[in-house]
Amino acid sequence: MVRDADVILKVRRPTAGEAERYKKGALVIGMMDPFGNEPALAALAKAGVTAFAMELLPRITRAQGMDVLSSQANLAGYRAVIDAAYEYGRALPMMMTAAGTVPGARVFVMGAGVAGLQAVATARRLGAIVTATDVRPAAKEQVESLGAKFIAVEDAEFKQAETAAGYAKEMSREYQARQTALVAEHIKKQDIVITTALIPGRPAPRLISAQMVRSMRPGSVIVDLAVERGGNCELAKVGEVAEVGGVKIVGHRNMPGRLAATASSLYAKNLYAFLEILVDKSSKSLAVDWDDEIVKATALTRDGAIVHPSFQPKTAA
Ligand code: NAI
Repeated sequence: MVRDADVILKVRRPTAGEAERYKKGALVIGMMDPFGNEPALAALAKAGVTAFAMELLPRITRAQGMDVLSSQANLAGYRAVIDAAYEYGRALPMMMTAAGTVPGARVFVMGAGVAGLQAVATARRLGAIVTATDVRPAAKEQVESLGAKFIAVEDAEFKQAETAAGYAKEMSREYQARQTALVAEHIKKQDIVITTALIPGRPAPRLISAQMVRSMRPGSVIVDLAVERGGNCELAKVGEVAEVGGVKIVGHRNMPGRLAATASSLYAKNLYAFLEILVDKSSKSLAVDWDDEIVKATALTRDGAIVHPSFQPKTAA
């Protein structure tokens, strides 16, 4: 059956064995996790399929409905707070009861992109006292508009940290040292820390050292959403809830998968929107415009070769 398909929609990249069973020239669309996986891309090229990586979509208005990183990161940010609240042995909102006052939990969100902002909003809705940090200046206003306090090293480098594509750059050693000092002081007083910081194509920035974890009160919780990309927290372990000095460090894999039905429904809508631009509506047939900005940005392999400029095999100088 799959051998006859012109288009194959996947969640993740097919294995080489799977791709070899597809028809030559079939369009394979999914999350291809291309960075650092060049051999797997070469296998897709060798299988003769035309692979599109949904995570390489440009962040332009026309592509918003197809933006899988946004749809999934939003859910991950929400779920991170729910998981943190579950692991945390206390209440999040301040409660004034006849038996005494329960203080509000302090939640610190590191990285205020799509996931981080949803974490801020969710933690606020649950009544926590929320602070957030990022290296991009645009994040400040967004964090504040959600009713949280923004904390960051706001120097000249910070003012230039956002790339034209809207992503963060890898920061200098000097900036990282100043950021570490600021975070070390702040983190000691936090009950829950949610980390979401990523840099496209690079390992996740290391933001929480073992020493910082040890400075936190027992019973505190860290949720590391970047754990599968190397982790923002030094002690996070992929697929585990680790415990160090009474601090729980949550490193669940595939956070959007913990809201499987919602994740699937949004992902399916993203793929549908993408497929629409590959089809000619009047003739109801596939008609890929290889000059389309969205097509060019996402096409990884075609006619037996890796065609994406970011993944060209390195040639000897
Ligand atoms: P991401 O998942 O690549 O990174 C998450 C966050 O971590 C980012 O805000 C980044 O600045 C931050 N970060 C990186 N290094 C850090 C460090 N050392 N310390 C603290 N924070 C650090 O980013 P995401 O969520 O994909 O968003 C990137 C941008 O794209 C945002 O500005 C977002 O609003 C924008 N966007 C635009 C869309 C559009 O269609 N116009 C759609 C979706 C997002």
